[in-house]
Amino acid sequence: MVLPVYVYGSGVLKKEAAPVTKDYPALSQLIADMWDTLYNAGGVGLAAPQVGHIIRLVVIDASAFKDDDPAANGFKRVFINPEILEWSEEKSSFNEGCLSIPGIHEDVVRPKRVRIRYLDENFQTQDEWLEGVPARIAQHEYDHIEGILFTERLAPIRRKIIAGKLQNIARGKSGAGYKTKIV
Ligand code: NI
Repeated sequence: MVLPVYVYGSGVLKKEAAPVTKDYPALSQLIADMWDTLYNAGGVGLAAPQVGHIIRLVVIDASAFKDDDPAANGFKRVFINPEILEWSEEKSSFNEGCLSIPGIHEDVVRPKRVRIRYLDENFQTQDEWLEGVPARIAQHEYDHIEGILFTERLAPIRRKIIAGKLQNIARGKSGAGYKTKIV
């Protein structure tokens, strides 16, 4: 089931999310709904707070970038309680967007590679180094469960330039082609 995406201005996007427990109500249904919501909106990553559940759960499907980055080919993961354990010193810049901030795309600098430990959808511990587009999306989504939006990582001048657009989204004029919500 496609869920509405909470957009910029919603308090749920600004909270540090709680760890997921195995007995979280209807967890597998929530994960299925997050996939539906992600694909319906044409996104590559979605964090549970973006659909109103303030828990440390993320889904990523980077395959849309497979022509630009071989690491993205077939990269589809559910991350439960992810932790970023190591970062490369090397950084890269990438034009990011966010389903919660429709219509805004800005270059963001982040570490090129990260080591991430998480539970998969079967609650099995996984530990892997990510690079390229998957590393980029994982860091963006990890920020979501910490209550951080990518616009907060921009230089003050860029934030000033997009301030009006952000205000419009917060006022309900998001113009997104999918169902959105502000709370
Ligand atoms: Ni996002």
